[in-house]
Amino acid sequence: TVLVVDYGAQYAQLIARRVREADVYSEIVPASTPVSEIVARNPAAVILSGGPASVYADDAPAVDGALFSAGIPVLGLCYGFQAMARALGGEVAHDGTREYGRTELNLTGTTGTLHGGLPAKHPVWMSHGDSVVAAPEGFTVTASSDRVAVAAFEDTDRRLAGVQYHPEVGHSPHGQEVLRRFLHDVAGIAPSWTTASIIDDTVAAVREQIGEGRAICGLSGGVDSAVAAALVQRAIGDRLTCVFVDLGLLRSGEREQVEKDFVAATGANLHVVDARDRFLGALAGVTDPEEKRKIIGREFIRVFEAATAEVAAEEHVGFLVQGTLYPDVVESGGGSGTATIKSHHNVGGLPDDIEFALVEPLRALFKDEVRTVGAELGLPEVIVNRQPFPGPGLGIRIIGEVTAERLETLRAADAIARDELTTAGLDAEIWQCPVVLLADVRSVGVQGDGRTYGHPIVLRPVSSEDAMTADWTRLPYDVLERISTRITNEVAEVNRVVLDVTSKPPGTIEWE
Ligand code: XMP
Repeated sequence: TVLVVDYGAQYAQLIARRVREADVYSEIVPASTPVSEIVARNPAAVILSGGPASVYADDAPAVDGALFSAGIPVLGLCYGFQAMARALGGEVAHDGTREYGRTELNLTGTTGTLHGGLPAKHPVWMSHGDSVVAAPEGFTVTASSDRVAVAAFEDTDRRLAGVQYHPEVGHSPHGQEVLRRFLHDVAGIAPSWTTASIIDDTVAAVREQIGEGRAICGLSGGVDSAVAAALVQRAIGDRLTCVFVDLGLLRSGEREQVEKDFVAATGANLHVVDARDRFLGALAGVTDPEEKRKIIGREFIRVFEAATAEVAAEEHVGFLVQGTLYPDVVESGGGSGTATIKSHHNVGGLPDDIEFALVEPLRALFKDEVRTVGAELGLPEVIVNRQPFPGPGLGIRIIGEVTAERLETLRAADAIARDELTTAGLDAEIWQCPVVLLADVRSVGVQGDGRTYGHPIVLRPVSSEDAMTADWTRLPYDVLERISTRITNEVAEVNRVVLDVTSKPPGTIEWE
C-alpha cells in the first residue's frame, strides 16, 4: 500500500487515483495521522500531497521529521515538497515568488531517476506561493523553473524525492511518468493492482465475509449497485438475491437494462417490485421539491423493506450489499459540516436500524475502477458507462406535479436528447445532461397552421469533475438543432426547447 497524506487540497484523491493507474494500491490518510501510525502500517511508499497552507502559517500542518528516517520512500508534492525541505533542514522562502498554472520546467544537468531522459524543458502545472530556495543536505536539485531555483530534488540513497509542481494533474504531461518512476524505480514497488487482481481479491473477501450466508442487493439501474451485485454474485452465486424497485421514475429503457441485460450478464436472481402506482399516488398533488424528495425517499425505503422481508421470509438473509465507493469513505471520515442544499438520497440508502450486516465490495474503489471492473465482469456497456442519475429520478425533473402523462412526455424528450448526444459522440465530454419538463409553464407556438400551447423542455448539459462545481457544456449548434427539431416534432406536448447556460454555482445541476 502507498499512503497519500492529505494536506487538505483537493488533490489527494487525484494522487491516489494516479498511483492506482500505475497499478499500485493506494489509500488516503489525513495529515493529522501520527508518523508512528504511518510506520506501523508498513507502507511501500508515502506521498505527501499539496495543500493550501503556507509552511509558515501558524496552523500549517507540520511534517514530523521522523517520517524521513523510517526507511520508507517518500515523495513530496507542492506543499509536501516544501514541508519535506523544511523538515530536513532546507530553506523555504516566503518571498512573494508565486507560480500559478502552466510553467516551464528546466531540468538541470543531473536529472536523477524521476526526470532522467525527459525533455530538458517541458511544461508542468504549478500552484504555489512559497518556494524552496535551498535543498536539504544530501539532496540533488534536478529541476528549476524560470522563477524558482529548486523545483525538484531527490536523495537516491534515502529514497526521498520531491517536486514543486503537480504531477497528478493532466496539465503536467510527463507527470504520470514521474509518479510511475517514483513508485516503480525509486520505491521498487511491483505493479500488482490490476483489474483482475481487484476482482479476485474482492471476490475472495466477500466469500470470506458471507461464508455460507445469504445476501440481498438493491439495484438502482446505475453502475455502482450493478457492479457490487455482480461481484457478490460471482462470490456466492445464487445465495444472492437482487431487488429492483421500479418507482416509475426511471428513463426509457432502464428497467429493461436491469431485467434483461443485467440478468443475462450475471445470471443473478432478480426480484422486481412494480411500485409505479404507489409512487404516483404518493406524489399526487405535490409540487414542492423537498417534499417530493422526502416522499420518494420514504416510500422507497418502505417498498424496499417489504421486498427484503418477502425474500427473507423464505430463507434467512444476513447480509445487505451496498455500492459504497472509496471517495464516500474518505469524505465521511473527514466530515466537516456543510449546508444542506438539497436532501440528497441514494436509492438503496437505508435507515440506521437495519438488521443486516453490510457488504461493501466497492469500498476501496474509485468510480473509474468500478467501471473497469464492471466491463471486465461483462456487464452491459449502457450500465457500465451510465452517467450520474439522481435517486429520485425523473420525479425531480418535472417542475410541478408528477403525473403519468408528464412522465411519458419527459421520457420521450429525454430519450431523444440522449440518443442524439450519443450519436454525436459527446457522452465522454458531458458529465450528465438532465432534461427537464417545465410542466407548470406553457407558451404559445405554431405548428402546421395551428396555434399550440405546450410546455418547454430544458436541456441542462454540464461538464464537471465531481458534481460539486460544474460548467454548462458548449454543445455544437447542429446537435442542439437536431435535438430541438426532433423533440418539438416527436413529443406532442412540447413546443419549445431551451438551453440552460448556468454554471454551478450559482445553479445546481438538477432543477429541483
Ligand atoms: P445538484 O443538483 O445538487 O446535483 O447540483 C449534484 C449531483 O448529484 C445528483 N443528485 C442526486 N443523486 N440522489 C442522488 O443519488 C439525489 O437525491 C440527488 N440529487 C441530485 C445530480 O444528478 C448531480 O449529478
